[in-house]
Amino acid sequence: MTFPSALGAAAEAVAGRLDSALGTLPDSRVRTAMAHALVGGKGLRGFLVLESCALHGVPPATALTAAAAIEAMHAYSLVHDDLPAMDDDDLRRGRPTVHVAFDEATAILAGDALQSLAFQLAAETGSAALVAGLARAAGAQGMVLGQALDIAAESAAAPLTLDQIIHLQQGKTGALFGWSCTVGPVLSGADQAPLAAYARALGLAFQIADDLLDHEGDEATAGKRLHKDAAAGKATFVSLLGLEPARARAAELISQACDALAPYGDQAATLRDAARFVISRDK
Ligand code: IPE
Ligand code: IPE
Ligand code: MG
Ligand code: MG
Ligand code: MG
Repeated sequence: MTFPSALGAAAEAVAGRLDSALGTLPDSRVRTAMAHALVGGKGLRGFLVLESCALHGVPPATALTAAAAIEAMHAYSLVHDDLPAMDDDDLRRGRPTVHVAFDEATAILAGDALQSLAFQLAAETGSAALVAGLARAAGAQGMVLGQALDIAAESAAAPLTLDQIIHLQQGKTGALFGWSCTVGPVLSGADQAPLAAYARALGLAFQIADDLLDHEGDEATAGKRLHKDAAAGKATFVSLLGLEPARARAAELISQACDALAPYGDQAATLRDAARFVISRDK
């Protein structure tokens, strides 16, 4: 199977799990908005959960529940990222953003409820460590911290340093990748270090690719608004280093990510494919 078809199959399975979770909620405008937000992503974080679990013999149903949890958390982060007070975007995953398709209050509430759903699903795995880890990854030491630094950088007096940009991106993007990649070792009691190192390099490369996409991508293909970061004053590898050095840095990180998988040998071939996909994607 090619990597894109493996990714697509995983995304479909995770979407099915999310559908059944949504089916347990009462019908409401918020639930409809949640469903809107969950459609159309690449499903990469959920895929990483499934791969991490497969490497560690985690039962498939548990893996799928954890994968659904991270995709719900990620979808929430995007709904709020697109709000007028944040990046103010009207297009996401090829469709109107939630606050455009519904209204701003509904988008805020749908984001809140997606976050709650993420924790509910994580709890359904039966692992308190996974729930606590998700809280750390999503909260004010993880994704939320990174988003706050991202927004603050827009009006900073001086450009951020490379270390500050790395810190920002490790929060806003890296933390959810870190959780995703380590679900298998957390649930099986194995050493988390190799997959944590893989995730650190992968998450950073992923965000550099996102920043390159903003600079030179095609909106129709990406399904979201592009060419906005520079005007908004976003602090990125591209803004600091320029295009070619940013591309080189991403490639270097991908080879670091692949090196980190050495303890898994050939079993980690799909995760190596995922790493290469991350910097070659056009959406
Ligand atoms: C976009 O993430 C937000 C970032 C962290 C850069 P993805 O590119 O994984 O978005 P979807 O889930 O495929 O829509
Ligand atoms: C969003 O980063 C990261 C999170 C939602 C946590 P961006 O603002 O760069 O993502 P896009 O480009 O809107 O997808
Ligand atoms: Mg943003
Ligand atoms: Mg954004
Ligand atoms: Mg972006």
